[in-house]
Amino acid sequence: MKLDFLGTTKRTHMCGELRASHEGQRVTLMGWVARRRDLGQLIFIDLRDRTGLTQIVFKTDIDREIHEKAEQLRTEFVVAIEGTVLRREANTVNRNHPTGEIEVVASLLKVLNEAQTTPFPIDDNIATSEDIRLKYRYLDLRRPKMQANFRQRHEVTMAARKYLNDQGYYEIETPFLTKSTPEGARDYLVPSRFHRGKFYALPQSPQLFKQLLMVSGFDKYFQIVRCFRDEDIRADRQPEFTQIDIEHSFPHLDEFFMSIEGLIASIFATSRATLSHPFPRLSYSEAMRRYGTDKPDTRFEMEILDLGPLVGKTEFVPYRKALDTGGVVRAICAKGCAKYSRKQTDELAETAKIFGASALATIKVTSEGVQSTLEKALGKPLVVELAAATHALVGDLLLIAAGEKKVVEESLGAVRLQVARQEKLLEGPARWNFLWVTDFPMFEWSETDQRFVAMHHPFTSPVEEDIENGLIERDPGKVRAKAYDLVLNGSEIGGGSIRIHRWDVQARVFKALGLSDEEARQRFGFFLEALQYGTPPHGGIALGLDRIMTILTGEPSLRSVIAFPKTATYVDLMTESPSPVDQHQLDELGIVIKP
Ligand code: AMO
Repeated sequence: MKLDFLGTTKRTHMCGELRASHEGQRVTLMGWVARRRDLGQLIFIDLRDRTGLTQIVFKTDIDREIHEKAEQLRTEFVVAIEGTVLRREANTVNRNHPTGEIEVVASLLKVLNEAQTTPFPIDDNIATSEDIRLKYRYLDLRRPKMQANFRQRHEVTMAARKYLNDQGYYEIETPFLTKSTPEGARDYLVPSRFHRGKFYALPQSPQLFKQLLMVSGFDKYFQIVRCFRDEDIRADRQPEFTQIDIEHSFPHLDEFFMSIEGLIASIFATSRATLSHPFPRLSYSEAMRRYGTDKPDTRFEMEILDLGPLVGKTEFVPYRKALDTGGVVRAICAKGCAKYSRKQTDELAETAKIFGASALATIKVTSEGVQSTLEKALGKPLVVELAAATHALVGDLLLIAAGEKKVVEESLGAVRLQVARQEKLLEGPARWNFLWVTDFPMFEWSETDQRFVAMHHPFTSPVEEDIENGLIERDPGKVRAKAYDLVLNGSEIGGGSIRIHRWDVQARVFKALGLSDEEARQRFGFFLEALQYGTPPHGGIALGLDRIMTILTGEPSLRSVIAFPKTATYVDLMTESPSPVDQHQLDELGIVIKP
């Protein structure tokens, strides 16, 4: 059809704005045709923009020409409409829409653009596969729920900026083309044309730059910043994601935690959520002992129980062996799960196996008594004693694992979550269970690398005592770090630490990580040097904005809160990246692709 130009036509209102109080006003609206109903003499369209819908009416008796033009409208056509606001008859009021009391009787229609039939309806209730939605992401983003998600994301970043500005932080940008700073993942590399054979790395985070800004005396820095990590994708990860990155000098930890809690409160206020402060704190070892994870979901209890003292005298070989070699025997009590079938308990055992537990024993408490897979091994009296000591009631199921401490903790932690999901303990009204996890170990042993690796990152400060007493050299596995994570509903939404601000301590930590002086100089020489020019004590945190938004919007995946995300296989289905490049680009860079 013949299209109109926008010309000087000027929008007066948004589509979600008009109310009965606008009755009689002449208005001009612009947007997309969401729906068209043709009743012959009358044509109705729902006109949509980012604020909502307004019903427009085209009547033959008012203007035959405009009515004929409206007959040609199809969904997703872009139009401008001028008309008069009328109050609807009582029986046609639509209570589902804020604009449902009015309609606009059109006197001018400009068709600004046509649209092909979209591959899926622009509607929140669609069953279209996510791949198709990602291929046509610009259409997917038109859906009202997506529009709401990105409005909220905008409100959150605005609230964060305002809060941090009020607290005296400066927003400072740091480079994307930089040198690799290892944070546990692989780097994305960018070849340099001018310096053949050399590469920039995209930052995994601005960690070193924000520390250098403290050396520069900026005192309080923040940045809402994209980070890039070539790591295996999980539901809560994307290869590029956004952090609210924060650093400050002369830190006082309690005060800092309080100010980050204030930031979180201002972010959650965009959802009208009020949070209770201060957030509870749990040491890493307590989190592992009670919940079997360093990011406990405390929306439900089911804490891990120690059976060690109770089974202490048993001769049952697997338990004896565990206890005699410094291991543990622990359990969780799954309330109301004695009804689980063999298949269901086998599935839980499979989960435990993924984390290394060789078996998952059960004790079921039913009205007929106590039944257990351990009856032969431990004897009935001890089984009954275990049920009583753990306060298992009729209907409850005890799930028991034995072995190395970390293996048992992680296995039961995973089983605990699986039971919670199956029993729908995470459903119901939104709950915001925040938690600081503190006192992480500085290093953990990597079997793959056969050396100690930093549990947070190599710039985290050990606690003062462990710096002084030579533990870094003597027993790295025992060194405690001034590191902390912020956890929400079982998801790690932030991590940070007090940093090393003395070059001699930094050099000792690099050494403990197996870096020779030469390697340390090559990779971090600039940083070690900077630490020698008057570096103040400093520390900070980075919050995972995408994870926070996923939880805040109740979406199942990060992809719903990132405008143009990658799939689980790192692909952008819309632009089809990554993609091959022209041979001459490779030649310029001096790159040969191996078959
Ligand atoms: P860390 O690596 O813990 O710390 O990252 C901080 C937070 O960023 C989020 N996050 C991610 N979100 C989505 N996709 C990913 N691939 C991803 N990786 C991390 C998490 C995490 O808690 N430089 C340090 C911060 C510091 O010490 O100040 C850092 O980056 O929510």
